[in-house]
Amino acid sequence: MILASLLAVVLAVPALGQDIVYTSIHNITNIYGTWSSGSQNVMTGPGFAQPANESFIYPKTTGLSYSFTSDGYYEIARYRMNGNGSQPNCITGVLNWCHGTYTLNPNGSITTIPFGDGYQQIQDPCAAYSNFVQNYNDTEIYVQWGISQDPVKGYTLQLYQYDGTPLAPQWLVSTSPNMLPTQSLRNVTPPLTTNSGLTQNAIVLNKNAGERRWAIGSIHGILAIASGLGMMSLLL
Ligand SMILES: *[C@@H]1O[C@H](CO)[C@@H](O)[C@H](O)[C@H]1NC(C)=O
Ligand SMILES: *[C@@H]1O[C@H](CO)[C@@H](O)[C@H](O)[C@H]1NC(C)=O
Ligand SMILES: *[C@@H]1O[C@H](CO)[C@@H](O)[C@H](O)[C@H]1NC(C)=O
Ligand SMILES: *[C@@H]1O[C@H](CO)[C@@H](O)[C@H](O)[C@H]1NC(C)=O
Ligand SMILES: *[C@@H]1O[C@H](CO)[C@@H](O)[C@H](O)[C@H]1NC(C)=O
Repeated sequence: MILASLLAVVLAVPALGQDIVYTSIHNITNIYGTWSSGSQNVMTGPGFAQPANESFIYPKTTGLSYSFTSDGYYEIARYRMNGNGSQPNCITGVLNWCHGTYTLNPNGSITTIPFGDGYQQIQDPCAAYSNFVQNYNDTEIYVQWGISQDPVKGYTLQLYQYDGTPLAPQWLVSTSPNMLPTQSLRNVTPPLTTNSGLTQNAIVLNKNAGERRWAIGSIHGILAIASGLGMMSLLL
């Protein structure tokens, strides 16, 4: 992937072992609030997940939304469609919701630890079970984040997944987070085998070959390069 090599170049200037400093170079405002990608049809809060009966209200378009409170709670709403090159009619749809507590780590990453009541609905017209709901309780790590100013959309949150892949940029919807209650919202019987460790969920997250890692770098260069190439929109 072209972007992958660009990222590797831009991020090759890390201050190894140094703690991140949240100045206006890294984030021009704080992360608290609700953020949403694209046309902002996907939003955390009551309009997306209905945990009591494990259902979803379908957004008009795909996208993702993250909320963070100032006292350490987060919520994620995601709606994706994955195409299938060999079978164009086999488009898999995934609706995914979870919430819990997050940590802004000293090295600039974010760890999200779910309460355990998260779930996702998978629609795969070509699979034996074409539509089903399953628990989703993966701890996730975002290796880097930053907030910049978009001349049109305003404050823009950029998150980078565990493997460095950037998520679609998200615009600030509201500085007061729009979230469901920050506690477990349904009873979950813990599975016999849990999905422990950092998430590698191939359906929800972008597929990516090979692992890359780095420490702290300026992400503004990346944002400029990536959006200059118009690649961000491809990554949703
Ligand atoms: C960057 O974000 C952190 C966490 O939300 C916040 O504490 C800090 O004040 C922010 N920096 C600026 C310049 O707003
Ligand atoms: C789930 O519950 C909500 C209310 O919380 C209700 O509006 C919705 O119709 C229910 N959906 C299903 C599939 O039962
Ligand atoms: C495409 O669909 C086929 C048939 O259902 C499946 O075997 C294959 O794994 C799918 N490929 C991807 C990339 O999802
Ligand atoms: C950054 O810190 C987190 C939390 O301590 C840790 O899990 C992660 O491995 C660290 N990342 C790097 C690149 O050292
Ligand atoms: C969900 O994951 C968290 C963090 O790994 C764990 O503490 C909790 O027991 C899990 N809950 C369930 C229901 O699996």
